[in-house]
Amino acid sequence: MSDQPLVQPVSTVTLTFNDTNETIELPVLKGTDGHMGIDIRKLYDKTGFITYDPGFTSTGSCYSGITYIDGDNGILLYRGYPIQQLAEKSDFIESSYLLINGELPSKEEKADFAHRITRHTMVHEQLSDFYRGFRRGAHPMAIMVGVVGALSAFYHDSLDIDDHEQRDVAAHRLIAKMPTLAAMAYKYSLGQPFIYPQNKLSLVENFLNMMFAVPCEPYELNPVMVNAMDKILLLHADHEQNASTSTVRLAGSSRANPFACIASGIAALWGPAHGGANEAVLNMLQEIGDKSQIKKYVERAKDKNDSFRLMGFGHRVYKNYDPRASVMRKTCHDVLNQLGIKEPLLELAMELERVALEDDYFVERKLYPNVDFYSGIIFRAMGIPTSMFTVIFAVARTVGWIAQWREMIEDPSQKIGRPRQLYTGSPLRDYVPINKR
Ligand code: CMC
Repeated sequence: MSDQPLVQPVSTVTLTFNDTNETIELPVLKGTDGHMGIDIRKLYDKTGFITYDPGFTSTGSCYSGITYIDGDNGILLYRGYPIQQLAEKSDFIESSYLLINGELPSKEEKADFAHRITRHTMVHEQLSDFYRGFRRGAHPMAIMVGVVGALSAFYHDSLDIDDHEQRDVAAHRLIAKMPTLAAMAYKYSLGQPFIYPQNKLSLVENFLNMMFAVPCEPYELNPVMVNAMDKILLLHADHEQNASTSTVRLAGSSRANPFACIASGIAALWGPAHGGANEAVLNMLQEIGDKSQIKKYVERAKDKNDSFRLMGFGHRVYKNYDPRASVMRKTCHDVLNQLGIKEPLLELAMELERVALEDDYFVERKLYPNVDFYSGIIFRAMGIPTSMFTVIFAVARTVGWIAQWREMIEDPSQKIGRPRQLYTGSPLRDYVPINKR
């Protein structure tokens, strides 16, 4: 049974079909905050009508007590706590516990959770054979889609989704193994040996160590990089019913195993309109190259005949500054200062932001920088290659995917997700033999 307060009917709306004058009364539901929703579950049964909403701009697919976004006011809450407070005072492990369990942990609970995650960081040795099957130049997201799905072939003792204990173990395994698998994808692209996780290191320290250490010399962890990576993971950990999370829920609604569900989330995250945007932002900034070119690219972004968009700008829900982008912008400055790096792309990004935010096109459409606008610049300062940006997003978002998947599995009203369609194909017709076509 899920622990969130259920949505309550607070009133009704009446839908009138003008052609026939028939009416139907539909309940109006209210959660603890945010939009009210018209409950259309009985619409089809009672009227034979479906609703049409491609892109789901007005469709709620579930109720959820995990993450809340107020897009007009630029607010993001994890289990009620503002993201800015968590970014400043919490850390990735603690916020992961919060997202998954609903409450901040006590000291003991946090230590126990961190311990459990640490004990699951190693992956089955045979998984490394999968990597060897990929071409060296493979995109690491392509590798991640494959190897995370393949986890279900290795951990048969955590596939029973009806067993609470097994769900827990699968959750811990996924959170713990994602950094290991991500670092292995990076090492494979370099042709360097895989580095095993070490239990004396935290999740973030381990991740950086597995990415950057080599067996022939000691690797010193830089606390600036550890802190920055921790913050980046925390900021990306969950974001309500976005494309990849909805994909995880949809896959999970068929009662597929959690490893397969998370692999489907990784696939959905990869696209440049979603998690792939951080990689696209850096490529875009490099293509713009110089402040003198900004106007030209802003004009291109506004031109409906040009497919170019300002990557890292705009959001389906935020019609204000993405609160994660504000934290990211500040972190970006801090990291560059602390590492003593002068990064011309940061100057370029800030100027691009200034020009766009003064332009009527962006103002009228309420297009602001999103979380991806500044993250790539921090990654670059940390020596992380562009192709790994979205992989790191996937490492972080695994926590949200798991929390949302578990919430769905534990919800007694959960059903297989199965949208309908408005058919636009040919009406019924008879088969024509090939010699008569
Ligand atoms: N550059 C130029 N125009 C844009 C942009 C942009 N980045 N984003 C939206 N618009 C325009 C769009 O052309 C449309 O104009 P009009 O009303 O004249 O047709 C209007 O703004 C509304 O945009 P939309 O595409 O209908 O909005 P959406 O909610 O379907 O798409 C989005 C949201 C994030 C896919 C889109 O803003 C976009 O493609 N942004 C760039 C990619 C990006 O940064 N993605 C990361 C999102 S945040 C991280 C994550 O959640 O994964």
